[in-house]
Amino acid sequence: MKTCKTVAEFRAARAALPALGVVPTMGFLHEGHLSLVRRAKAECGAAAVTIFVNPTQFAPHEDFSRYPRALARDLELVEAAGADLVFAPDVSEMYPEGYDLRIEVGGVTSRLEGAVRPAHFSGVATVVAKLLNITQASRAYFGQKDAQQCVVIRKLARDLNLPCEIVVCPTVREADGLAMSSRNAYLSPEQRERATVLYRALSAAKARHEAGQTRAEALRAAIHDVLAETPEAGVDYVSVADPDTLEELDEVKDGALVSLAVRFGPTRLIDNFLL
Ligand code: PAJ
Repeated sequence: MKTCKTVAEFRAARAALPALGVVPTMGFLHEGHLSLVRRAKAECGAAAVTIFVNPTQFAPHEDFSRYPRALARDLELVEAAGADLVFAPDVSEMYPEGYDLRIEVGGVTSRLEGAVRPAHFSGVATVVAKLLNITQASRAYFGQKDAQQCVVIRKLARDLNLPCEIVVCPTVREADGLAMSSRNAYLSPEQRERATVLYRALSAAKARHEAGQTRAEALRAAIHDVLAETPEAGVDYVSVADPDTLEELDEVKDGALVSLAVRFGPTRLIDNFLL
């Protein structure tokens, strides 16, 4: 496995590989990320992982500076998962002096996460467009865990005619249902235990739906009922939405996206199910 810090180095190493699958990450890797690496390797023959904590997707009050970093450990993990190439640039390599381009993806970025984090998806879209251009991958792998991010990136690839197929992979969970996330490391042991409330709330909505409930408002209410049992959990939003437009639904249809964002102290956790 070769690790590159600069675009030039990466391009030179990449030239030796025909098809390439890429997994963009911000590092502090866990089994969710590694499932994407294994799939990229299996489907494309060669896999690249990008590790870059992207400052432009964090608001000034957010956790950019304290976002967990562990590059040496990450490199061991991705090598064991089969990665051929790693791109781990410094901020100045991605955003040199004078850089000021930003991509705005449009309407789907104003809802859900975008309503709470207004500049977030512009930062994500911009860095992902740059990473896909740098890596020249034929496929890029993303996790359903970040459902709105997947919608935004699919639209980015479609609207900019990027020659890269976007592949969305299932959410990997801990044994108790909590979706794996680098930010779970911020939780105290008590918060970590209580954080299973996200999975339990989503499961309650799914059970209602499977029992025949088709009113979206009843599913949102079922989620709020479960969340209310954990007063420490501050609810940012509970949503039952169209999986492509992210518009809130009145009547639930197959494939609807049920999602929520919950705060434990300063830590924000998100999760979702597709019905
Ligand atoms: P990061 O949070 O590191 O996640 C990298 C990729 O791993 C994303 O596609 C994310 O959806 C996926 N992922 C995270 N947790 C997962 C889980 N439990 N199961 C399956 N996949 C999971 O998302 C980002 O970084 C950044 O916004 C990025 C796209 C790299 C742009 O900076």
